[in-house]
Amino acid sequence: MKNKYRRPRVFVTREIGAAALAELRRAARVEVWPNPTPPPYAELRRRLRDADGALTMVTDRIDAALIAASPRLRVVSNLAVGVDNIDLAAATLAGVAIGHTPGVLTEATADLAFALMLAAARRIAEGDRQVRAGKWLAWGPRVLLGSEIFGATLGIIGWGAIGRAMARRAAGFRMRVLYVSRSRTNHGGAVAGARRVTMNRILAESDFLSLHVPLSAATRHLIGAAEIRRMKRGAILINTARGAVIDQGALTAALKSGHLGGAGLDVTDPEPIRRDDPLLRLDNVVITPHIGSASHATREKMGALAVGNILAVFSGRKPPLCANPAVRMRPQVAHPD
Ligand code: GLV
Repeated sequence: MKNKYRRPRVFVTREIGAAALAELRRAARVEVWPNPTPPPYAELRRRLRDADGALTMVTDRIDAALIAASPRLRVVSNLAVGVDNIDLAAATLAGVAIGHTPGVLTEATADLAFALMLAAARRIAEGDRQVRAGKWLAWGPRVLLGSEIFGATLGIIGWGAIGRAMARRAAGFRMRVLYVSRSRTNHGGAVAGARRVTMNRILAESDFLSLHVPLSAATRHLIGAAEIRRMKRGAILINTARGAVIDQGALTAALKSGHLGGAGLDVTDPEPIRRDDPLLRLDNVVITPHIGSASHATREKMGALAVGNILAVFSGRKPPLCANPAVRMRPQVAHPD
């Protein structure tokens, strides 16, 4: 019994898969935030004051102040590939290892990006809304005309695993694939037929432009008014990365004016999108609520990796999938109880 109470404490900020939770519970005292919405910042801070580990979501802000107020914390394991919700520099300085879940969500996220591209091109959500509203009057030769994907040019910004998975899907539709990559030396791997080009060229030539970059100071508003102006009239923008990669005001203006033909967004700025956001009044945008990795199988794998990252730290090792590999982990502090 005594041992049990010496086990490390972990706060899990949302209900995750049962198998992953059970695995975590075998090694730690686990508290799970029971609500479907994230713990408010003050609550998160209160829960982490005495925690050795945290299993977090993209919706949890882990900043320098929170890290400073969590003296026992040794690992924050994000159930996501992106870690822009975490102050990596502050965590590294404090000796807190940051885990994440790359790899397993690549295909699911590329599926969703492709689905949004098809939906925006062929006005699927708009058609569904019309049918439900009783506006399907008859088959019509001018009804809901959209753009064709087959043979069109797809531009991919960000040549990581998800960008490349998107390119592989495009090959099946005989799309011409262009990409930009920030890596100078390593192109991230070849996909047959895909050509690396400049930003200018990808903006000018793409019929569809899909974003696959992490959010950082360098990529915030990467697509703003100036970039949108350089895009083809009628082009369609797809974003499954992070909302702030696009200047949303500029996107809204371009969709309203008809310069852009449409957009497919799985991410917005902020999230959730405000209920009075003008984007919600436009028919040529399809929006999903940040569900890129939301398949049963992928979320199961993400849960297992996130728990594995925590358990590794409790065994004295760095997380196998560590977003701050330079970290020198702080020592474990025994719990008095
Ligand atoms: C989701 O947005 C992720 O980063 O995994």
